[in-house]
Amino acid sequence: MIPKHIIDDIMATARIEEVIGEFVALKKSGADLKALSPFSQEKTPSFYVSPNKQIFKDFSSGKGGNVVTFLMEHEQCSYPDALRYLAKKYGITIPEEKEITPEELLQANEKESLFIVLQYALEFYRKQLEETEDGKALGKSYFLERGFREETLEKFGLGYAPNSWDQFGSEALKLGYKAEYLELAGLSKVNEQGKRYDMFRNRVIFPIHNLVGKVVAFAGRQLSKDDKGPKYLNSPETPVYHKSDILYGMFFAKNSIRIKDKCFLVEGYTDVITLHQAGIENVVASSGTSLTDGQIRQVRRFTPNITVLYDGDPAGLKASQRGIDLILAQGMNVRLVIFPDGEDPDSYCKKVGGQAFETYIEEHEQDFILFKSQLLFGETGKDPLKKAEAVKSIVASIALIPDPVTRTIFAQECAKIMEVPEQVIAAELGKARRKEVEDSSRKALEAAEIAEQMLPDEEIVLSHLTETEKQERQVMKLVIRHAADPFDEERNVAQFVLDEIHEGLEFTNPLCANLLEEVRKALSEGHVIDATYFVNHPETSVNSFAADALQDKYRASDRWQEMHEIPLIHEEDNYKLDLHSAILHYKIRKVEMVIEANLKELKEAVEEEKITELMEKQNHLMSMRRALSELIGATIIK
Ligand code: CTP
Ligand code: MN
Repeated sequence: MIPKHIIDDIMATARIEEVIGEFVALKKSGADLKALSPFSQEKTPSFYVSPNKQIFKDFSSGKGGNVVTFLMEHEQCSYPDALRYLAKKYGITIPEEKEITPEELLQANEKESLFIVLQYALEFYRKQLEETEDGKALGKSYFLERGFREETLEKFGLGYAPNSWDQFGSEALKLGYKAEYLELAGLSKVNEQGKRYDMFRNRVIFPIHNLVGKVVAFAGRQLSKDDKGPKYLNSPETPVYHKSDILYGMFFAKNSIRIKDKCFLVEGYTDVITLHQAGIENVVASSGTSLTDGQIRQVRRFTPNITVLYDGDPAGLKASQRGIDLILAQGMNVRLVIFPDGEDPDSYCKKVGGQAFETYIEEHEQDFILFKSQLLFGETGKDPLKKAEAVKSIVASIALIPDPVTRTIFAQECAKIMEVPEQVIAAELGKARRKEVEDSSRKALEAAEIAEQMLPDEEIVLSHLTETEKQERQVMKLVIRHAADPFDEERNVAQFVLDEIHEGLEFTNPLCANLLEEVRKALSEGHVIDATYFVNHPETSVNSFAADALQDKYRASDRWQEMHEIPLIHEEDNYKLDLHSAILHYKIRKVEMVIEANLKELKEAVEEEKITELMEKQNHLMSMRRALSELIGATIIK
C-alpha cells in the first residue's frame, strides 16, 4: 500500500500534459492540448488534455480521467504501478515496500507475476554477465569486442545466459518463483521426458522493454556463428508481450523522437544500441520482422516523420515494401537511407563514427516514393509492359497517402521521373484511390463496430440508465464542477445539494449515491471538496466521470439542453440556475415515480376507504408535480 500522503503528493506534482506528452504528440488547441487518440485508429484528433483541469478526454473511445487513469488505460497497468511510475518520474520517494514473499506472489495477478519473473530474469542475466567467470569471459567480452561500453550494457540491461541446461530455472524455483510463470514467460520449459530446461543457454541477452521501461521479453543471440540453433532466440508472445505492438528501443528513444520530430527505423537490436552509443537516440528496431500497424501507430504518437535506415539490396527492399506502404497509409512521411554494400547501420556507424554517420544520413536521405520511382524506372528500361506495371505499383503507394496535396505533388514528381504524362498517373491514381477509399471506409466501419462494443462512452453509459439515474448524473456533474462555489449566503454548492437530496430522496445510481455519501462524510470531517478532489479520486469510475463533467464539450447545461430541448443560458455563473433546474427535474422524476406506484395501487384497490386515501394522495402528488413544474418554468425564465 502506498501511503495516502504520498499519493496526494504524487497527484499534486504530476502534470498530466507532461506525462501524456511522453506517449502522445500533443498539439496546442486553445487552452487545451489535442492529439490523435492513442486508444483507437483515427484520422482527425479527438483526444483532449486539459492542463488547467488536469484531465484527459478521448472522444473516440470515450475514455477519460486523470493522469493515473491514463497510465492505467494506456499501459494496461495497475493503480499502484501507475503511481510508482509517476513517483519515479517526479522524484517522489515511496517508502520502502517490503519484499515480495512467495505467498504474495501467488496472489498477484498474472501480468504482475509475469513482470516480477521477467525482472528477476533480467537481474539474473545481468549478474551472470558482470559477476561470473563465464559471463565475463564469454558474454561481456563479446559485447566489449563489439564496441559496447560499460554504461551501455547497463542502460540496455544486456546480460548473459550461462551454458547450463537449467541453472536459471532451478535457481528461480528455489527462490520461490512459480514454475507456471517461468513457463508462461517462455524462460523455462519442460521437455517430453519431464525434464526442466532453460530457454536461453550460452547466449548473450537483449532485454526488450515496453513503453514505460518494464522488461517484457528477451532475445538471446548466439555467441558464435558455429553455435547450434538460430542466431537469435526470442521470447514467445505472452500477456505482457505482444510482438506486433513493440518496437525495440522505444522506451529509450521516445523523448528524443519527440524532440527531433523524427524516428529512425532500423532492423536489428545491435543497430539501435550502437546508434544510441553514438548519441543518435531517436532510433527503434522492427526486430527483423515486417512492420505492423500497431508499431507504426506507436511511432506516430511522437512524430509523423520516419526514416527507414535500410541495409539491404534493392531486392530485399522490394520485400519490405509492405511495411513501408503501411507507414504511408498512416499518413506519415517516409524517407529512406541506403547504406553502402554489406554495411548495416551498426557496422557503418562504428566504421565512420557518429558525426559522419549523421552527415551520411542527411546527404542520402531520400523520399520513399521518389526513390521507388527511380528504382523501378531504372529496372524497366524501354519495355512498355514492365513500365506500365511499375507505374501501377508506384501509384498504389501514392494512393495510400491520406493527404490530397501531398498526393498530388508526388504524382507530379513521379510522372517526371518515370517519363509518363501526368494525366496517365492522375488517371491511375483516381482508380487506386477509389479502391483505397472503399477499403479504408470498410476498415473504419469495422473499427467503429469493434470500438462500439467495448465503448464505455458516456452515451452508452447513459443508454443503460433509468431516467432518474440520468437526472442524478446531472446533479452530480454540477457538484463536481462547482462543489466549492457559493450557492447562497450560507452554503456552497456541495452543501446545498446535500440538503436537497435528503432522506427519502436518495440517489439510486450506485456511483452517484456513493459519491454523494462520500462528499457528505468528507465535508462533515472538515475537508475541502472541489473539482480536484474528484479528478484526483483513486476510483477510475469517479475520476473518469469527473473528466466527463469537466470537459467543455459535455458541459452539463449543454447536455441538459440536448436531453430536454430546453434553452438554457451557458455562462459559467449560471451554475446556480442549472443546479436548481437539475434538482427540480430530479425531484419531479421522483414524484412521477411515486405517482406511478400510487396509480398502480389505486387500480388494484377495492376497499372504499383505501381508494379515497389513495385518491387524496394522488391529488397531493399531482399538485406537488405541478408546483415543481412551475418552479422549473420560473427558473428558466428568470
Ligand atoms: N532476427 C531474429 N531472429 C533471427 C535473426 C534475426 O529475430 N534468427 C531479428 C533480430 O531482431 C535482429 C534482426 O532480426 O536484430 C536483424 O537481423 P540481423 O541483421 O541478422 O541481426 P543484427 O541485429 O544485425 O545482429 P548482429 O549485428 O549481431 O549480426
Ligand atoms: Mn548487424
